[in-house]
Amino acid sequence: MTPSDLLRSRRVAPSILSSDFARLGEQVADVMAAGARVIHVDVMDGHFVPPITIGPLIVSALADRVHGAGGMLDVHLMIERPERQIEEFAKAGADNVTLHFEATPHVHRTVQLIHEHGCSAGVALNPATPAAALAEVAGDLDLALCMTVNPGWGGQPFIAATNDKVRRLRALLGDAVALEVDGGIDTATAGPCAEAGATFFVAGSHIFGADDPAAAYVAVAQAAGAVV
Ligand code: DX5
Ligand code: ZN
Repeated sequence: MTPSDLLRSRRVAPSILSSDFARLGEQVADVMAAGARVIHVDVMDGHFVPPITIGPLIVSALADRVHGAGGMLDVHLMIERPERQIEEFAKAGADNVTLHFEATPHVHRTVQLIHEHGCSAGVALNPATPAAALAEVAGDLDLALCMTVNPGWGGQPFIAATNDKVRRLRALLGDAVALEVDGGIDTATAGPCAEAGATFFVAGSHIFGADDPAAAYVAVAQAAGAVV
């Protein structure tokens, strides 16, 4: 499947943030063997959010494995001024690049830049940013990301009020745009998010914190009504 086919389907995206980085390739291979085709990569810069995580080097290290198995790399940039880094992530093999609405005054230009580099483009909203923030850019997006926790850390509880926001985003975006939820997604929260209109479900600790990540992937994909 091409990344644009994947964006049009309902998918659970394992987030490698909660994986064992000493065994990263093996962990990604494990969830892909169970059916995962969207691998979510959380990039944090120590400014937009306090932690520092990973950069283009890790995207590049995973690119052949993920693409070779028919998957895509979904890069979530939790960094200030993302426009300065788009080229590096595109060169490293990112398929989708999502920036935060709150991280730059140049959201539209950054979306254009992502497209110019041959990637699909997403914009993420923090919990306090209203759905309507995407009104003027909705027509240019391939994906919108509704944070269902505050960005920065895995393992936080799902913020229940974000469910209505997912509904408002779906109404704003129409049917053609992928709508991703990220944070606190598990077998209990995935179903209500799907019902509200989400189509991409990021799950980190639920999958990589489990004894059997492949089985945890299948369980959350079933709960979301996603392709297993
Ligand atoms: C948090 C990241 C998430 C994180 C989700 O800022 O954007 O992708 O990995 O982790 P869980 O699924 O554990 O809430
Ligand atoms: Zn994320």
